[in-house]
Amino acid sequence: MGKFITLEGIEGVGKTSNLRFIKELLEASGHDCVVTREPGGTNLGEALRGLLLSHSDENMSEDAELLLMFAARAEHLAKVILPALEKGQTVLCDRFTEATYAYQGGGRQLDTDSISDLEDWVQGELRPDMTIILDAPVEVGRARASSRSEPDRIEKEQDEFFQRVRAAYIDLAEHYPHRICLVDASVGIEEVQHQILEKLSEFDILEPQSLSDIEA
Ligand code: TMP
Repeated sequence: MGKFITLEGIEGVGKTSNLRFIKELLEASGHDCVVTREPGGTNLGEALRGLLLSHSDENMSEDAELLLMFAARAEHLAKVILPALEKGQTVLCDRFTEATYAYQGGGRQLDTDSISDLEDWVQGELRPDMTIILDAPVEVGRARASSRSEPDRIEKEQDEFFQRVRAAYIDLAEHYPHRICLVDASVGIEEVQHQILEKLSEFDILEPQSLSDIEA
């Protein structure tokens, strides 16, 4: 089986540029990478993403939001993630179930036992080998994201929502230190990238040898 790596964080922490950086690092050290995202990654998943993130006059119920996230995930696992892992490819995914714990569990305050039941149902034993959470205070993320396009339906939430999302991410990293790590994303890009490099080698994704080659 290939390695399954996921990247997480609140809005404005630099997920997009760091995803590109991680992909380049992995490819430079010989990984055959599949880069994908959630919600999305398949035709059905991207259609569900449209429904989940677009603004509508009619409010979506919180349970419907949770179930649609997992519906998209079931399709993504079946069509993209599992086939790639079975071929020995490295899957690099922009958000996964930790986002559900953070946004639906932390942000929306849905019962985490329900999330965990869905996780077991949809994923069986599969968990990411490594999850990198880019962490920064909500105000820092907001300030960086404010120059971007119109926020999506979930990004429209208030700061208190994102404080809970961030707290839930920090909690996950504390509970599962063997597979989830925090990277301080409030510092400059080079320092963030240095932390990512170190974490990838600590979690045995990159060989220490390739680390010194890359840093040289
Ligand atoms: P993104 O473009 O940053 O990936 O945005 C996707 C949005 O979907 C973001 O606001 C977080 C949200 N989301 C959830 O609420 N729960 C989930 O399980 C996932 C994967 C994403």
